[in-house]
Amino acid sequence: MFIQKSHLNNSFLTDKHRMVQSDDGSFTAYSAEFDEHYHSTKDGALAESLQKHVIPALLHVSFKDEISILDICFGLGFNTLATLYYMKKEGIKKKLTIYSPEFDKELIASLKHFVYPEIFLEFKEIIDALSTSGEYQDESLHVSLYLGDAREFIRDCKHQFDVVYQDAFSPSSNPILWTKEYFADIARVMKEDGILTTYSISLATRLALHGSGFHIYLYEPKGCRSSTLASLKELSGYERVDMAHKISCNPEAKPLSDLEI
Ligand SMILES: C[S@@+](CC[C@H](N)C(=O)[O-])C[C@H]1O[C@@H](n2cnc3c(N)ncnc32)[C@H](O)[C@@H]1O
Repeated sequence: MFIQKSHLNNSFLTDKHRMVQSDDGSFTAYSAEFDEHYHSTKDGALAESLQKHVIPALLHVSFKDEISILDICFGLGFNTLATLYYMKKEGIKKKLTIYSPEFDKELIASLKHFVYPEIFLEFKEIIDALSTSGEYQDESLHVSLYLGDAREFIRDCKHQFDVVYQDAFSPSSNPILWTKEYFADIARVMKEDGILTTYSISLATRLALHGSGFHIYLYEPKGCRSSTLASLKELSGYERVDMAHKISCNPEAKPLSDLEI
């Protein structure tokens, strides 16, 4: 299903990125700039994307004919591509719009050469279009990359999203995309019945979301470590995180703030 490591001639995507095989066989990248992998190498790039983001999000919006997704940040594009893959595999027909900020133009231009899982190869035309022009459009799909700062994009955004994939580098290496002010901006661009998915289960992240009016839920993805779902309206069918209790047990815990970065 995947090209083996030994068959990879050049594992460097750019001066700052190296391709790395994750434990489910799919390749991810290591960023020298952030000193972090793009995905959990233990959970696997493809598994993490499908199980922590795409599957719970698409279940949540299953009754809608038209959906819009904010994919923070595009990176290697796994969340966008896994969404297309899963919809096709499950026969889910919807009009889909995806907006995705990403400030690393060199990385985007290099994606034509990334070793994607075979199941993404049918989206080669889409990958090439996004890598070259940052846009792809057909009758039912519009993907638009914003090649710049995510905070700026969200602040100026007039669109309202059904789904937010919160998949930035970790709060410790990229704090500006995890602050309470950031999540307040995210809440403003989400539909009232929207859902946010994230791999982060840290109390600081949950406090930042909670402070912006989100309800917080523990999610147990199949074959991966736990993750978080957040929504402005209450959800049923998930284990609710009792934030009042967490706060009373951890009175010194604080969300990240723009003022301290
Ligand atoms: C963990 S990776 C995203 C992984 C991605 N979802 C995927 O499936 O490959 C984080 C990405 O955020 C980008 N990034 C970091 N800070 C940013 C910012 N302020 N604005 C836009 N992009 C940013 C990095 O360049 C990197 O590509």
